[in-house]
Amino acid sequence: MNNFEFYNPTRIVFGEGTVARLDDLVPANARVLVLFGGESARKTGTLDEVKQALGNRHVAEFGGIEPNPTYETLMKAVAVIEQDQFDFLLAVGGGSVIDGTKFVAAAVNFDGDPWSILEKRGRNISHAIPFGSVLTLPATGSEMNSGAVVTNKALKAKLPFASPLVYPAFSILDPVKTFTLPAKQVSNGVADAFTHIIEQYLTYPANGLVQDRFAEGLLQTLVEIGPKVLEDPENYELRANLMWVATLALNGLIGAGVPQDWATHMVGHELTALYGIDHARTLAIVLPGMLDVRRESKAEKLLQYGERVWNIREGSEAERIEKTIQATRKFFESLSIPTRLPDYGLDESSIDDIISQLERHGMTKLGEHGDVTPEISRRALEASL
Ligand code: NZQ
Ligand code: ZN
Repeated sequence: MNNFEFYNPTRIVFGEGTVARLDDLVPANARVLVLFGGESARKTGTLDEVKQALGNRHVAEFGGIEPNPTYETLMKAVAVIEQDQFDFLLAVGGGSVIDGTKFVAAAVNFDGDPWSILEKRGRNISHAIPFGSVLTLPATGSEMNSGAVVTNKALKAKLPFASPLVYPAFSILDPVKTFTLPAKQVSNGVADAFTHIIEQYLTYPANGLVQDRFAEGLLQTLVEIGPKVLEDPENYELRANLMWVATLALNGLIGAGVPQDWATHMVGHELTALYGIDHARTLAIVLPGMLDVRRESKAEKLLQYGERVWNIREGSEAERIEKTIQATRKFFESLSIPTRLPDYGLDESSIDDIISQLERHGMTKLGEHGDVTPEISRRALEASL
């Protein structure tokens, strides 16, 4: 096992009716800016419930954070905060709103050009406004991690950053708040959480025995409940399990002490930046191709994953690996997520543009061995034509 430090200060408050706990969780004298997305938080009544729970505190709203939050929109929130001296932020929404809030928290009174936070991947953050979240979409794990992804529309760049200063102080996870999600967002959430686990698990053996078993348990749970949640959207127990799996998939626990990949995510981000494809759908396109072209360096873990998650035990090693990759692609497709570039109106000619973007963003030595060059990324994309 590799050396590691594990730190996660986010308080999770889980269960039905927990929005009311905001009154205890937010400082009594805070000046609170509530950040949210399009209209879902208002339409579903969550926003009203949040404001009621905040009682007599000074509260204002900032809406309009789009899926794949943009730098342009987030800088408007920064200006509001600098002008009106808010000292606590509350994100109400999915990964986009929480990620956006992380960036805003760090960009307020930032010394220098705030876009450099993304260019330097968060290493230049020295302070951030405290914030909490009310999660309405289980998918990204943003509610309990220190990472975020921001899109610069003008530059067509979607870049990640991370800093221990942007862990949420708390996150409220009420599964009932996810009942209103469109089926597409539920599928996206399952696929995103699934891929987060794979990025931290499906590398090479590192004697992380418990990390492997945790990861396999989370993957098995997603395989078991993913399709059921889609069939039975108001089933509280299914929703609760999906919500907790998605959080555990990317809160640092399963990735501590083991190698990590993330090549699929970095290539996926370029697909979103260029073509606006939903984050999770980009992963469903890229991951099967990545496994296909990297099957040799990932052979041992592919065999383990195939056996323990998909019960693939018959045939030669090469056959089992092939079946395992196919099972992964079929899983995404069983969630009604297409996995081929042409399903999204793209063809071979798009691949050059994606590769140029990767090069522009320095994404040229990706993966657990740093050997995913633009050429390997190209072959991974070609495998999903
Ligand atoms: O904008 P509104 O109207 O609120 O609608 C949203 C949005 O259109 C809707 N929605 C959310 N909760 C709802 C709801 N609709 C009905 N009922 C509810 N309860 O869902 C749509 C998608 O929301 P979004 O927040 O964009 O989705 P998601 O949670 O999948 O977040 C995706 C973003 O997170 C980033 C992605 O790159 C992408 O930008 N990621 C963040 C990560 C992290 N911080 O660790 C890791 C991930 O790999 C990912 O990159
Ligand atoms: Zn993701």
